[in-house]
Amino acid sequence: MHILSIETSCDETAVSVVSAEGDFPHASYRILGDALRSQIDLHREYGGVFPSLAKRDHAKLIVPLLARALEEAQLPHNDATPLSDAQSAHLTELLAREPDLFEQLRAHHEQHGRPTIDLISVTAGPGLEPALWVGVNFAKALAYLWNVPVVAANHLEGHILASVYADGRLAELAFPALALIVSGGHTEFVLMRGWNEYEKVGQTRDDAVGEAFDKVARLLGLPYPGGPEISRLAREAREAGYPTAAPLPRAMRDSGDLDVSFSGLKTAVRYAVQERMLTDEERAAIAREFEDAVTEILLEKARTGIDTYAARSFIIGGGVSANAHLRETFRSVFAAEYPDLALYIPDPTLTTDNSVMIALAGHAHASSAHAANDTDTIRAEGNKEHRRIPLGERLFQD
Ligand code: KG4
Ligand code: ZN
Repeated sequence: MHILSIETSCDETAVSVVSAEGDFPHASYRILGDALRSQIDLHREYGGVFPSLAKRDHAKLIVPLLARALEEAQLPHNDATPLSDAQSAHLTELLAREPDLFEQLRAHHEQHGRPTIDLISVTAGPGLEPALWVGVNFAKALAYLWNVPVVAANHLEGHILASVYADGRLAELAFPALALIVSGGHTEFVLMRGWNEYEKVGQTRDDAVGEAFDKVARLLGLPYPGGPEISRLAREAREAGYPTAAPLPRAMRDSGDLDVSFSGLKTAVRYAVQERMLTDEERAAIAREFEDAVTEILLEKARTGIDTYAARSFIIGGGVSANAHLRETFRSVFAAEYPDLALYIPDPTLTTDNSVMIALAGHAHASSAHAANDTDTIRAEGNKEHRRIPLGERLFQD
């Protein structure tokens, strides 16, 4: 099966072609084509992602990225033929909110024809709604044009699957597995009692971890995205042995449940920064203390979760899992405290948003794909992070 996957939930536009041989979760996968463009430069001057700009850029990039991913994959195409009037009319309707896309897609199709794709997987949520809609509408248009079914994939499920993916296969997961998703928009613990069974068992009460990294970076005068910048400064402080900063709070670390809160941490950094002009060393020391505080909180919550659910696997996923200190700390502490528990941390190339993970999430739900003529009900689902979700509510629908 050849899967075309599309990711436009935030500030990465990505399209992949992934082949899957066998059924989920035992299939072997090959990444045949992978095209990704980050919009970071575009958003940097705003200090964060600006939704309407993101939407416009996704619409500008998605056809060129599709062309690149397909070219890399070298899939056979059938003969290129001009669109019929009926096809043009229907595609225009499907792409009404992204008018420039229609002409680009028409030009691509009339030049290349239909590739041998069996399934389209598109991120339907969570994410920035205007950004998501670009991918969703584009997927509907391709589904119609190529007569291929579509799966509305969950971005967070993608992050989880990316973490357990290595060398063309998903790990033989031992259940229950506990996943910790740490990204720019989300921070949550998800319990998996089996494949495709997800239950949210904890979450942030305010900011997501990545959001806290980004906001603290901004307070320290560092550019967006803040995660890698804080990480760099913190490393410098550790390696050079700068004097430690005043301790920052570890809110809710010992609350015994799996909820977290990072807004107090951010506020404490704000006070520290406002007090007086800081030297470069002091700023680096604060970055280090912040990284230490986040890592300690997450680690203690992980211990609580593992004990509460007798977890046999622990999965870390999402953009913040790129953080070297977090990765190293979890690896060393888990090796010492939980030698029998399998720890999964994504390959560095799959930590931040990408479309390979969306191909995996799509394959997981291939059997419930929408037929090409039945995509009306697929909707972009936006950001749920500020909705209060009762503990234990099912996170993903099969
Ligand atoms: O998963 P992701 O690419 O996008 C969302 O789905 O939100 O995560 C992006 C987040 C940003 O907040 C960014 O600052 C953070 O991941 N991030 C990091 C690092 N690299 C990216 N945070 C800490 N350390 C890093 N090395
Ligand atoms: Zn993400």
